[in-house]
Amino acid sequence: MSKLYLIILSAFSFILFSCNNTSNTKEPKQADIPLIPLPQEYSLAEGSFILNGQTQINNLSSLKETDLFLEQITAQIEKSSGIRLQKSDAEENAILLQNAKTELPKEGYKLTVDKQKVVIEASDEAGFYYGLQSMMQLLPPEIYAQEKQIGTEWSIPAISINDYPRFSYRGLHLDVGRHFYPADSVKKFIDLMAQYKYNRFHWHLTEDQGWRIEIKKYPKLTEVGAWRKGTLVGHYSDKPHQFDGKEYGGYYTQEEVKEIVRYAEERCITIIPEIEMPGHSRAALAAYPELGCTDEQYEVATKWGVFTEVYCPSEKTFQFLQDVLDEVMELFPGKYIHIGGDECPKQQWEESALCQDIMKREGLKNEHELQSWFIQRIEKYLNSKGRSIIGWDEILEGGLAPNATVMSWRGMDGGIAAAKAGHDVVMTPTSHCYFDYYQAGPEGEPIAIGGFTPIRKVYDFEPVPDELNEKQAQHILGAQANLWTEYMPDFPHVLYMTWPRALALAEVNWTMPTKKSWENFFPRLIRQMKVLKYEGVRCGKISSRIKLQTHYDRKKEELTAELHCDNPLARIHYSTHGDEPTTKRAQYHQPFVVQHDLLLRARAFVEDEAIGQELKKEIFLHTACGSTVNYAVPFSTKYPAGGSSALVDGLKGGADFADGFWQGFNGEDMDVIINLRHPKEVGSISMQFIQKEASWIFLPRKIEAWGRFEDTKMEKLGEITNTIPDSTTGTVVQEFSIAFEPQKLQSLQVIACGLRKNPPWHPAAGLDCWLFCDEIIIR
Ligand code: ACM
Repeated sequence: MSKLYLIILSAFSFILFSCNNTSNTKEPKQADIPLIPLPQEYSLAEGSFILNGQTQINNLSSLKETDLFLEQITAQIEKSSGIRLQKSDAEENAILLQNAKTELPKEGYKLTVDKQKVVIEASDEAGFYYGLQSMMQLLPPEIYAQEKQIGTEWSIPAISINDYPRFSYRGLHLDVGRHFYPADSVKKFIDLMAQYKYNRFHWHLTEDQGWRIEIKKYPKLTEVGAWRKGTLVGHYSDKPHQFDGKEYGGYYTQEEVKEIVRYAEERCITIIPEIEMPGHSRAALAAYPELGCTDEQYEVATKWGVFTEVYCPSEKTFQFLQDVLDEVMELFPGKYIHIGGDECPKQQWEESALCQDIMKREGLKNEHELQSWFIQRIEKYLNSKGRSIIGWDEILEGGLAPNATVMSWRGMDGGIAAAKAGHDVVMTPTSHCYFDYYQAGPEGEPIAIGGFTPIRKVYDFEPVPDELNEKQAQHILGAQANLWTEYMPDFPHVLYMTWPRALALAEVNWTMPTKKSWENFFPRLIRQMKVLKYEGVRCGKISSRIKLQTHYDRKKEELTAELHCDNPLARIHYSTHGDEPTTKRAQYHQPFVVQHDLLLRARAFVEDEAIGQELKKEIFLHTACGSTVNYAVPFSTKYPAGGSSALVDGLKGGADFADGFWQGFNGEDMDVIINLRHPKEVGSISMQFIQKEASWIFLPRKIEAWGRFEDTKMEKLGEITNTIPDSTTGTVVQEFSIAFEPQKLQSLQVIACGLRKNPPWHPAAGLDCWLFCDEIIIR
């Protein structure tokens, strides 16, 4: 056995337990280095560097921050290994930092490890920082432990790494408004980010449910605005709402903020503070009601959602915001200030004489333009102080402020539009970057806001959309994950939702897509989860949910079913006759042909142990399977069922609207034409819709079915009116069927008319709502 093999074996013993070929487990592909994010270039050599009591540190770099970086790793190494690295000018048994001989890319580094020494070269502080982080990750996971580890050999495999990031903006966001976490927790959040080469911390400091930053000029912001009378118990969709009645709150003093900013800087992280405007401002209005548009007595919100109470664009409000921003700029030296801009209902502005006067005076056509005017005024102020604004993608509505950077959260479209218009963009779409969504389960998981974003999905995220040309793509600064904390009452829960998914996003942001592979990532992921455990992080689960997809082969006229599990170690067993899917049932190897309607049951197994939930799904082999579908109104690409066969794939959506089967239409009706493969005699059309008002999804009011044979005109086949009220709470999955005289048809049209906007009673009244359909079954 070669020495190199031995080293790799000891470094990667974490995968050996699962490599037993006789068990019900697949052979994983071995990653040859444990780093996350994966470096751009590396080559392993023979031998290893042994860290011992005589190892020295020799800092030849000309950048002063590097001493601090060395102090940080020295403290950690001493804590876990007992080895205290001493400074010296040794070149053997030493860790050397030296200026790169030729200029390296920004934040780039070279790391060379041989038996004698570890050499880190860089051209800037961040480069040295990341070189050291990579060195730490090459040591055994125990190096991150919080107490001394006995019997561990502290060796680093000989290697040569040349590394630099793909994106300059590598961000995580934390909402401290819905729940508040003490300053030490924020520091821990920052520590973990830095370890995986994140460099932007978006600190969401103000919300409807709490104002969290001390502002000296406006003390009531924290005396009043930082405290709420109670908090919603359970999920928002559990009605009637219940409250715990306990006062809740907290805020960061300016001294704490300064300390956190300094702490982040020492870890090469810039903080982007967010001061929300004009919406999500109830806490500020509770403190200073004169900033609102009405005379009501505002209260800090005790439940979640979007509220109609927003800042009035008065001179008083601008003075207040400018004063607040002045103090914020004193505390945060970074270029960007985030001004929010999302989810601002316009009812109060529509009813306000002052707003209508401003609109007339400024020649603004509607309230969206008024919001744009508001944001542009704030931008002008911040620009005059040498700062730039970032805002959520709603700032595109009514005209984008001239120098604004856009955070694209409602999908990628806002980001695409902004990049095409020459604006910088940070991609943070709900579909891949919302870490408040479930990562596994939802069965067995702690309550989350909804959705489903397993780590595999995060890993597959591509921040640069195909729609952009090379020049426009330069405007994509990078990606960010958001931690909205309605359902994260304590900090361990924040960590649970963040990790391990943030490991996947770290690689998305750093590593060139051609070098990424889920199979290669997986063993590194397991290793880094061990590291995180040593650091006291309880990681979330890796989903073992089985995915089912169907494909229709038009040549063979066959529908096939395909199964997939994200865990590369898992094997799938399945049955098609209703039997329980134990290891005694057929093992899934490849897609199989669906001959008739059937009930599929499938389960993933590792080492003969069932993991994750069972998949139980009916497959309907109906006349429309494999048809082409034409959409008069495009479906949203936000949900997984974004393909044009989703409505006729033989699979019905279930009780979870984000289960990957439902297709969504945002702010529009559904109008589709289904072109059968051959003209066929048919006599019924049925389809399901789903309602979940808490997620802004409503059933249609009316559904019409039309049909035609060959090129004749569409004839009405029937219609159905929905009588289920839009105020019905919880989840309603409703099937609508239209039967008609059997006739030979080529094409069928379905028009489902919905609400388009959330109804007036809804907390997000007036904002675009959703219509979700699946499956359209024709027989
Ligand atoms: C957001 O999630 N409202 C930006």
